[in-house]
Amino acid sequence: MIFEPKKRKKLVVKLVPNKRIHTQWGYIEPSSIIGKEPGSTIETHLGKKLIIFRPLLYEKIEHSKIFKYATQIVRPRDWGLIVSFADIGPGKIVVEIGTGSGGFTAFLSHLVAPNGRVYSYEVDSKRASIAKENLKNLGVPPTYIIKVRDVIKEGIDESDVDAVFVDIPEPWLVVDHAYRALKPGGVLICYVPTFNQIQRLLESLERKFSDVKIVDHFYRELQSIPTAIRPLLESYVFSAFILFGRKLV
Ligand SMILES: C[S@@+](CC[C@H](N)C(=O)[O-])C[C@H]1O[C@@H](n2cnc3c(N)ncnc32)[C@H](O)[C@@H]1O
Repeated sequence: MIFEPKKRKKLVVKLVPNKRIHTQWGYIEPSSIIGKEPGSTIETHLGKKLIIFRPLLYEKIEHSKIFKYATQIVRPRDWGLIVSFADIGPGKIVVEIGTGSGGFTAFLSHLVAPNGRVYSYEVDSKRASIAKENLKNLGVPPTYIIKVRDVIKEGIDESDVDAVFVDIPEPWLVVDHAYRALKPGGVLICYVPTFNQIQRLLESLERKFSDVKIVDHFYRELQSIPTAIRPLLESYVFSAFILFGRKLV
């Protein structure tokens, strides 16, 4: 990842020997990066100083061309909150409904490795192909299985799973399927952008799920300039409400 510290611009690039990297600050010879430690400063042909780092997963998704957006994705700032309240970690079995571009699938697959599994369902075969390509390009461990299926009509194959994550427009239509797939006490998580969806969802959870928690995750980043520490102007961008519930028996 190439980092321009003044404006905090990031660019994730693939290093190919002898292939110049063209940037808005001038071009860079790969030989000026190869062999350097992460955190080193390099220069473009125009003398612009930039810093190199190994890209983090979210940077590979948000700042590179190797990840294609077929849909809106779960925002990386919500990833940690979702998995901490659902106890998702190594060895866990997770079902995801709505693979989309595969952004969250990538994060989950890393997290459940090496022995856990992510079963991710997508109704649109083109999106499923884009997601598979994205996961391959991101170098995600093979802990995911993508299935092309309309879950509303055809349900979920797995049972006794630890968590079901739902990111589709009508999550209330898959609540019964999620209920059957989950182990007793398992966690249902739904990622929904409107209050109206939350209301329909809540009605559908009655007598099936308890300990229901709905989170509006405010995220505010500060400008890291020692003489001007204040919220970044673009720091509050709404993503979605996140609903959690535990399966009743
Ligand atoms: C907002 S995207 C999911 C984005 C994904 N969570 C990510 O982080 O990249 C919603 C996806 O759900 C899929 N979808 C909608 N209804 C579905 C259904 N009944 N069964 C399976 N997938 C469905 C859509 O085709 C779309 O790709």
